[in-house]
Amino acid sequence: MDDTVGPERWGAVDRYLAGLLIAPDPALDAALESSAAAGLPSIQVAPTQGKLLHLLARAVGARQILEIGTLGGYSTIWMARALPPGGRLVTLEVNPRHAEVARSNIDRAGLTAVVDLRLGPALETLPALEREGQGPFDLVFVDADKPAIPEYFSWAIRLSRPGTLIVVDNVIREGAVIDAGSEDPNVQGVRRFYEMVAGESRVSATAIQTVGAKSYDGFALALVEGDSSRTEG
Ligand code: SAH
Ligand code: DHB
Ligand code: MG
Repeated sequence: MDDTVGPERWGAVDRYLAGLLIAPDPALDAALESSAAAGLPSIQVAPTQGKLLHLLARAVGARQILEIGTLGGYSTIWMARALPPGGRLVTLEVNPRHAEVARSNIDRAGLTAVVDLRLGPALETLPALEREGQGPFDLVFVDADKPAIPEYFSWAIRLSRPGTLIVVDNVIREGAVIDAGSEDPNVQGVRRFYEMVAGESRVSATAIQTVGAKSYDGFALALVEGDSSRTEG
């Protein structure tokens, strides 16, 4: 293979694509800058992935979005920007420092009235959402701690309706996902998630490997079915 093809080229291609396809957005740029300045880890979705989430939200006509894993609110802003008037986004974050930076980024983007950021472990805030009768959500983005992906996926289904789209980030792990004997709890979490999906008749799912600014990883898409007797589609 051409030895210019690798992580450096992936990043350059991402920048090329973003340069042509993604209009500069001062609020998104400022969110990245202030997150970096605050010392948050640079693990937010790439701009091309943020725009994909935005387009998916518009394509499904999402009015209610749930995000698990806020960080500095970068993906939050991308998705919230896709909402129609009256739409809402609930985002869950365990780290108070991340939540504080996210709140200021969301505010700068003019989205404070649209975004409901809940501080706490998602496995505690998710049941609270259910108790409050929140949802069903039209789009769910699962992007928090990876060992708990299977639990978050169960909650996503629980808070869904037929037609809900569930997006799960980081499900390829540089290919480590196929290592059945892996002791990495992140890999184990992702593998348990795929096994759950494989046995779950209420969703139709796929996963896509990606390269880019964020190296080699990927995302899964699961569509909640209306008719549980349907097994393929
Ligand atoms: N979606 C963000 C990136 C999220 S990074 C973006 O693309 O912009 C993952 C986030 O999940 C981190 O901020 C981390 O603090 C948070 N997190 C980790 N464990 C969590 C838990 N148990 N509950 C809620 N959030 C959690
Ligand atoms: C990590 C988390 C993410 O959601 C991501 O997209 C990349 C890396 C991490 O915890 O390292
Ligand atoms: Mg992620």
